[in-house]
Amino acid sequence: MTLAIKASGLAKAYGDVIALNGIDIEVEQGTVLGLLGPNGSGKTTTVRILATLLQADSGSASVGGFDVATQQDEVRSVIGLTGQYAAVDEYLTGRENLELFGRLFHLSKFDAAKRAAELLDRFDLTDAADRGIKGYSGGMRRRLDLAASLIGRPNVLFLDEPTTGLDPRSRQGMWEVIEALVADGTTVLLTTQYLEEADQLADRIVVLDHGNVIAQGTSDQLKSQVGGDRIEIVLENVSEIARAAELIAEFGSAPATTEDVTKTVLLPVAGGSTAIVNIVRKLDENKISIADIALRRPTLDDVFLSLTGHAAEDKTETLDSPKGRRGRKARR
Ligand SMILES: Nc1ncnc2c1ncn2[C@@H]1O[C@H](COP(=O)(O)OP(=O)(O)OP(=O)(O)O)[C@@H](O)[C@H]1O
Ligand SMILES: [Mg+2]
Repeated sequence: MTLAIKASGLAKAYGDVIALNGIDIEVEQGTVLGLLGPNGSGKTTTVRILATLLQADSGSASVGGFDVATQQDEVRSVIGLTGQYAAVDEYLTGRENLELFGRLFHLSKFDAAKRAAELLDRFDLTDAADRGIKGYSGGMRRRLDLAASLIGRPNVLFLDEPTTGLDPRSRQGMWEVIEALVADGTTVLLTTQYLEEADQLADRIVVLDHGNVIAQGTSDQLKSQVGGDRIEIVLENVSEIARAAELIAEFGSAPATTEDVTKTVLLPVAGGSTAIVNIVRKLDENKISIADIALRRPTLDDVFLSLTGHAAEDKTETLDSPKGRRGRKARR
């Protein structure tokens, strides 16, 4: 296997704030690594070091086979970077911005114009190409920013929170664009606070918290760390909970847990859909009414919570109550 990115023992402090505490990262060529973590966990710091914009205090890293500390020009020639905050010029049009980036990459005037037109077309920006980008929506800006980072045809692309602030439709569009780049062979390191995004795009995920790698693996591996599938049964009558748990115990792979407030029985299971049928039949035979029954696969939310004791996206909702977590939509 060829590594497009390899970092070992990367550490960085800003004064007394330890941003990175000696992390290792490996990204195989042609794959997507999702660097997942809450605010301040060190994602941008990692990207900036790998993109040669910032020097690590210790540790080493190479990108595309070049050392980020001693071969900065070579590294820059093979990477593209889309920062957390858009780097495009407000007062120029979309086309002018891309042509400017092209000239920075030493393209001739003709080639810069050609490449700009190509990218505008690819990112669905042709109609807006000659408007000032002050009037662009957030999604259009992000696409333009990504287009700008592709001017030099990078083999390795760093995307720092590519979809933060986008509405679901623009986010979906961005995912499609990223997937197409990967299908063309580009290696991508993307940071995100959205578990869903890592789940969708990343071949492997590295979870950062307070500058440390606290877990890594595929999405499925991380999910299986917190246990397998569970069936969640909500009963009509709270008084029947204990009896229901006892009756269905034989279908579980571990003991059931119950929660009176929500009238819920949770049963870990191995074969999810067969178990549902058996449970419904058993409870029906015993005249116990079911208000709701669902198969629940662990989500990356569960993983994050169990690893860190806090939720990844805890700004808008309280996830420390099981009810709050269960209230979210299932992701897959
Ligand atoms: N220029 C700086 N000066 C001082 N402290 C900084 C600087 N840049 C980052 N930090 C601190 O380093 C830590 C890691 O920051 P970093 O920006 O890498 O996190 P992040 O994971 O990208 O967060 P976010 O999700 O908010 O973008 C944080 O505690 C942050 O406050
Ligand atoms: Mg950041």
